[in-house]
Amino acid sequence: MQSWIPFIPESASTESAKVDALYFYLSGVTVFFTLLISVVIIFFAVRYRRRSPFEIPRPIAGSHALETLWSVIPFVISMSFFVWGATLYFRNSKPPQNAIEVYVVGKQWMWKFQHSTGQREINELHVPVGRKIKLIMTTEDVIHDVFVPAFRIKADVVPGRYTTEWFEATKPGRYHLFCAEYCGMNHSVMGGWIVVMDPTEFNNWLSGNVNQQSASTSGQQLFQTLGCASCHGNNGEGGRGPALLGVFNSNVQLSTGQTVRGDESYIRESILNPQARLVNGYGPIMPTFQGVVTEEQIVQLLAYIKSLSSQPAGVSGAPGAQGNAKPPVREPTK
Ligand code: CUA
Repeated sequence: MQSWIPFIPESASTESAKVDALYFYLSGVTVFFTLLISVVIIFFAVRYRRRSPFEIPRPIAGSHALETLWSVIPFVISMSFFVWGATLYFRNSKPPQNAIEVYVVGKQWMWKFQHSTGQREINELHVPVGRKIKLIMTTEDVIHDVFVPAFRIKADVVPGRYTTEWFEATKPGRYHLFCAEYCGMNHSVMGGWIVVMDPTEFNNWLSGNVNQQSASTSGQQLFQTLGCASCHGNNGEGGRGPALLGVFNSNVQLSTGQTVRGDESYIRESILNPQARLVNGYGPIMPTFQGVVTEEQIVQLLAYIKSLSSQPAGVSGAPGAQGNAKPPVREPTK
């Protein structure tokens, strides 16, 4: 179903119509003023042309009313661009709470996806229709960019960082995914498809891939094999290293006295560069895992650490309402 307007991609998400509305408004205002100004220029050029070689024009006095008018009108119009655009931007850049999370890793020149239930895909992502999907994205090498025109979403993936975007597809189908950041020789073929399915079809697809274990289970195994458990406890309860129970999305007290949010980026940094921001009370004893774990393994470790925070209330200082969202503090080892 292509739109009657040329070059407009299909509209297939809950947000795409809103993005289009803003886009049409911007185009409409631009076209209106372009026409108005062109017509007025031509009209004035004809109406006030010099009629004889020695003609002296009538003197012109300034008009405060006129000046105010042509300052205030453009101001109001440009503020409408700003307010509308900012509202939409914030709405679209803040993934909703109840979204299904999918990890995305970009790599020259492919896209790797991992569902939290464990299924992995390359250059293709299957999602159910009518559900909010949150992409948690990073890259193994250079900057890439996830762009799905039909959903009107586009965001860079940056080395050493997690970025997010979200969408809710409104109709089943296959939607083109592009890399929208020049990333080397095969940038132009770095793409794929988002496959949007009916919920029952999606469940069939999911259960057809059951032989894979969930991301957090893989993470738990890595946690043991990499020896993380020897310092952080068998179940992340802590020891020589800080406890990991409930640390995700909580406030972490640092040795510098500062507080950081225990989000994806902080946990990632603590795996690859543990000395960068030490937890208060703990010495710089953790080795770096740079080069030891791949981006996908970090994603699995993250899924495991997250799962430690989604356990029944009371287990830990999970993000709480009382503002005591700190990891359980253990005896510091100097
Ligand atoms: Cu990846 Cu362009």
